Amino acid sequence: MKSFLQEVSVGLSKKNKKLSSKWFYDFHGSILFEKITKLREYYPTRTERKILKNNKIEIAKKIGKNAVLIEPGAGDIKKISIFMSTLDEPKKYIPLDISKDYITKVSKGFKKKFPKVTVIPKGYDFSRDNKLPFKINSSENVTIFFPGSTIGNFEKKDAIKFLRMLKSKFKAKKIIVGADLVKDIPTLISAYDDKKGITAKFNKNILQRINTELGGNINLNSYKHLVIYNKSKKRIEMRLKSTKNNNIKINGSKYLIKKNEEIHTENSHKYSIKSFKKLANEAGWNIGKTWVDEKKLFSVHFLDLA
Ligand SMILES: C[S@@+](CC[C@H](N)C(=O)[O-])C[C@H]1O[C@@H](n2cnc3c(N)ncnc32)[C@H](O)[C@@H]1O
Repeated sequence: MKSFLQEVSVGLSKKNKKLSSKWFYDFHGSILFEKITKLREYYPTRTERKILKNNKIEIAKKIGKNAVLIEPGAGDIKKISIFMSTLDEPKKYIPLDISKDYITKVSKGFKKKFPKVTVIPKGYDFSRDNKLPFKINSSENVTIFFPGSTIGNFEKKDAIKFLRMLKSKFKAKKIIVGADLVKDIPTLISAYDDKKGITAKFNKNILQRINTELGGNINLNSYKHLVIYNKSKKRIEMRLKSTKNNNIKINGSKYLIKKNEEIHTENSHKYSIKSFKKLANEAGWNIGKTWVDEKKLFSVHFLDLA
């Protein structure tokens, strides 16, 4: 947990305080995210699932025979099941997630459902320059499945780096990636600020983890879940706003979070078909096909190396 402590210490010492959204996800955070995906306001999950379901035959054709499917940030792994049985003799499925206990647990169900596919779940942080926790043979049909609009969590320059890294390090030949589309602001805001307050709990899970894992003394009630749409960057930003001067202590170090000061915890970039194509092209990928739903809420792209 050294890296968590280091990142928290750097992030809370900045003038504009910032923590990475990857720290939302311990086992409890993953369960909260699963709850978010079922909320009425959270359109991305059900829309992307519908796109995958409606186009599974074409997706399977694009992926081809004997696929080795790698899913970074796999979460509840429900989306891969939508088209797994339409694939032509898939060889392996490698779900990776920073939330190690969670990915290990959910993968057990997959093994029962698809006994012919070798499943290799691994705890892995894709934002670090870590060695891959599995072997890749570059002659294999390596396809990356990256749904859930997780690509939107990256700053644009980091999204390009990530897509390049999938080619160089993961030896990917194809990518299926889900990107949320630009749309009206109220729909976007309510997707990240639901009435039941689940997303607020999810946002505050970072503070909870600081308390339980790093011995922090943060009073969660003195922070408010805040969601804004940054028009110039076309992204949703989640923040935690301090409602009073908060002197906090984490692992012996002191920090002052002033009244009304905000800790930036997540970005979720929204793309147009055109802006996503530009991003993919800059990373050296060709867009072979794009699928969208009838309301144009969400997009799924097939990328290959033309
Ligand atoms: C927006 S959720 C999407 C989950 C799932 N792919 C879906 O489509 O529903 C992001 C997922 O990525 C994982 N994640 C976030 N940052 C990560 C990182 N740096 N390395 C590995 N996994 C990460 C989270 O634990 C979470 O499961």
